[in-house]
Amino acid sequence: MKALVLAGGTGSRLRPLTHTSAKQLIPVGNKPILFYALESIAEAGIVDVVVVVGDTADEVMTAVGDGVDFGIRVTYLRQEQPLGLAHAVQMAEEYLGKDDFLMFLGDNLLRDGVGEFVRDFSTQVDAAGVMKAGHSRPLSASILLSRVEEPQYFGVAELENGRVARLVEKPAQPRSHFALVGAYLFRPAIFAAVRAIQPSLRGELEITDAIQWLLDHGHDVAWREVSGWWKDTGKPEDVLDANRLVLDGMVSGRSGAMPDRGHAENLAIGAGGISPKSPSQPMRDAERRPSLASSRVFGRAFVHPTAQLIRSVIRGPVVIGEGARIEDAYVGPYTSIQGGVTVRRTEIENSIVLAGSIVEDISRLDGCLIGKRAKITAASARPKGMRLIVGDDSRCEL
Ligand code: DAU
Repeated sequence: MKALVLAGGTGSRLRPLTHTSAKQLIPVGNKPILFYALESIAEAGIVDVVVVVGDTADEVMTAVGDGVDFGIRVTYLRQEQPLGLAHAVQMAEEYLGKDDFLMFLGDNLLRDGVGEFVRDFSTQVDAAGVMKAGHSRPLSASILLSRVEEPQYFGVAELENGRVARLVEKPAQPRSHFALVGAYLFRPAIFAAVRAIQPSLRGELEITDAIQWLLDHGHDVAWREVSGWWKDTGKPEDVLDANRLVLDGMVSGRSGAMPDRGHAENLAIGAGGISPKSPSQPMRDAERRPSLASSRVFGRAFVHPTAQLIRSVIRGPVVIGEGARIEDAYVGPYTSIQGGVTVRRTEIENSIVLAGSIVEDISRLDGCLIGKRAKITAASARPKGMRLIVGDDSRCEL
């Protein structure tokens, strides 16, 4: 079994962050979304991984490298234009060869990973791709489904008598609540399907159409409902939701949700409150604790030892990165503060602040996604007014 990870595309719904960055590298819980996918793949026991990259190839390749940090071997494949998920499969054929493969969309997050999904598929099919039980036709794919409120924004699966009957990409009038999750298992039969289909109205070769082609040509497609939460991080609201879910996971102690992969010893963990006044509170590494000058930390906060908390209140779940400075501030639940960020005389919660940004003298920020090196401060000179220098496609609610 190999894996194909899609980390190309344009990320248009996440502008302006994606004007300068790959959408798959936006961090939730201070870790790039794509890393969760790569970790899930490694956890499922897959080693050979083809990563499809587009315009942001350099950034993705720098972040992921050869995959050794994840315990996988990565080969990169450049897709010149985002011509669709099935186009990426077409391109990868010579790398995937005759192996079964897991296709994982690099902007999707699955709490419980794909281990069960992969194991199930492997045990359903014998070496020749013939179903062992229950199906009379060859099993050529397996899909993951999740019940959603607004299926029109996803590929939608219609089931009949417990089998996948029809798949439609983003139908205006969905006939089921089952959305296609961004993890698929394929046997090599998919290559004939992706060659046979035509671009959709949005000009893309849709993987949904390719799977429908399999159904239409006598193949079986297995399905499974996701356990745990699933998030497609296509829009800013989704990224904030994902951040909440990941930080919640940290509270319940799931190690997969730990930020700053591989540096657990760098994390100060305060369950139930840590402060200089209560040294008995649990700390992972007493020698390397962050500076907490007159600050109080409630709930679980993952604070990098080089971060400084000065006269502040932190209410977890929260993650605060390397060298961040939180001063006379309140950082509330579900906030991820990346490295090098300064938050001063500001209240912030339910937000993500990316590396190197400064937020100062703002009474309250809630539900914000702040890019790298942004500066948000109160106007000091009169006449007071809002002076905004806002990038293309930005969104401000003042
Ligand atoms: O998230 C699940 C949904 O993903 C499914 O329900 C849909 O059926 C499926 O088509 C897909 O829909 P999206 O519109 O969300 O796909 P998106 O364009 O966001 O692309 C998904 C990932 O694949 C993303 O990481 C970008 C990457 N990609 C996308 C295209 C179109 C590529 O690498 N190359 C491409 O050509």
